[in-house]
Amino acid sequence: MSDAALPIQAAPEADILSALGTRSVVLVGMMGVGKSTIGRRLALRLKLPFVDADTEIEAAAGMTIPEIFEQHGEPHFRDGEARVIARLLDGGPIVLATGGGAFMREETRDRIAGKAISIWLRADHDVIMRRVRRRADRPLLQTADPEGTVTRLLTEREPVYAKADLTIASRDVPHDKIVEECIDILRAHLCGEPAAEPSADVASAVR
Ligand code: S3P
Repeated sequence: MSDAALPIQAAPEADILSALGTRSVVLVGMMGVGKSTIGRRLALRLKLPFVDADTEIEAAAGMTIPEIFEQHGEPHFRDGEARVIARLLDGGPIVLATGGGAFMREETRDRIAGKAISIWLRADHDVIMRRVRRRADRPLLQTADPEGTVTRLLTEREPVYAKADLTIASRDVPHDKIVEECIDILRAHLCGEPAAEPSADVASAVR
């Protein structure tokens, strides 16, 4: 076939942007799955602003997340988190990385469903443990048994994260590969294009 006869293939980013309209792309999932790292790169690809909800909460409160937990407690943090995410979703389209507990609140899930496409970055317990050990600023893991806490949180949260529109397996491969998979699955979901066949490591990681 000559080049002239090939169908014109629009860039997936352009298709995704036009299908999104004012809706955002929201990354959900446990601490340590890479929501901020992947979100930042995905935003660059889509040429959308990237916003990290945790950073916005800290800016709005004028203190760090550990300080909010310590001085005001988790329920206060959760209320602020829900308010900040609601505000951010009103300013879409953006790529938004949410804190690991945000999607557990029904009101926030409903808002995300109405104003965004959600992607659950799903990682195995071992991958999460390896990654969260690198940072000591997560108040929920300041327990005598962080590993047991992660196991408990995963049991509680995975059925809820599974309500996200889309799921991508976060694993130890180059970040750009995960971003590429996000682009593929977004285009398939929004524009009805078949997503590329998952590679063997994705199929086993997603199970
Ligand atoms: C939390 C996750 C954190 C942060 C807070 C609570 C959670 O965000 O919002 O420490 O409940 O899982 P990351 O998922 O970005 O670490």
